[in-house]
Amino acid sequence: MASLHLGDTAPDFTADTTEGQISFLDWKGDSWVIFFSHPNDFTPVCTTELGRVGQLSAEWAKRKTKVIALSVDSVEDHDRWKPDVEQVSDTTVDYPIIADPDKKVAELYDMIHPGEDDSSSVRSVFIIGPDDKIKLMLTYPKSAGRNFDEILRVLDALQLSASGPFSTPADWRPGDRAIVSNDVPTEEAKERFPDLEVVKPYLRYATPSQS
Ligand code: BEZ
Repeated sequence: MASLHLGDTAPDFTADTTEGQISFLDWKGDSWVIFFSHPNDFTPVCTTELGRVGQLSAEWAKRKTKVIALSVDSVEDHDRWKPDVEQVSDTTVDYPIIADPDKKVAELYDMIHPGEDDSSSVRSVFIIGPDDKIKLMLTYPKSAGRNFDEILRVLDALQLSASGPFSTPADWRPGDRAIVSNDVPTEEAKERFPDLEVVKPYLRYATPSQS
């Protein structure tokens, strides 16, 4: 298996899910996608994580982003576990969970890390853009639940960069000023962004909505 890198086209696959069989890139269409794995059904950290993703349903929709989960359990296990997830987090799991008992997809996306106790998937996150390219990869150990507020924040940062000549500084939050790309000369940047602040010739801040 070749390792995946940022900018690669997300590998396609066919798999059974809690919402029927899908062909991944067909299912994805031209949406942004959060594709995340967890180790096993009926485990505590995973129960909180899938619930949190369900609670953020309106936030994903606002960002035209589809969400899909994966573990190496069966569809039958996912279906038996889902009511627990929904009850614990008082939410609805309104996104598909891929069943990957033969680990075909987990291996394709390098989600099995043998140093992490057993051969189930670790906590991987892939953000995939409308162009099917991988925009972000995160890997968490089985012991640490993910911060989905951070995943929303970085999705906002990626969508901002896709919308104009911007990158985002450390600890950027939606609504903060962004960094104007060095591809835009300062004179042009001053015209396009009236509140441009030149801190260094290579570090210029502006408010994105003014573009
Ligand atoms: C959990 O979700 O709590 C968990 C799953 C597998 C290994 C460790 C923790």
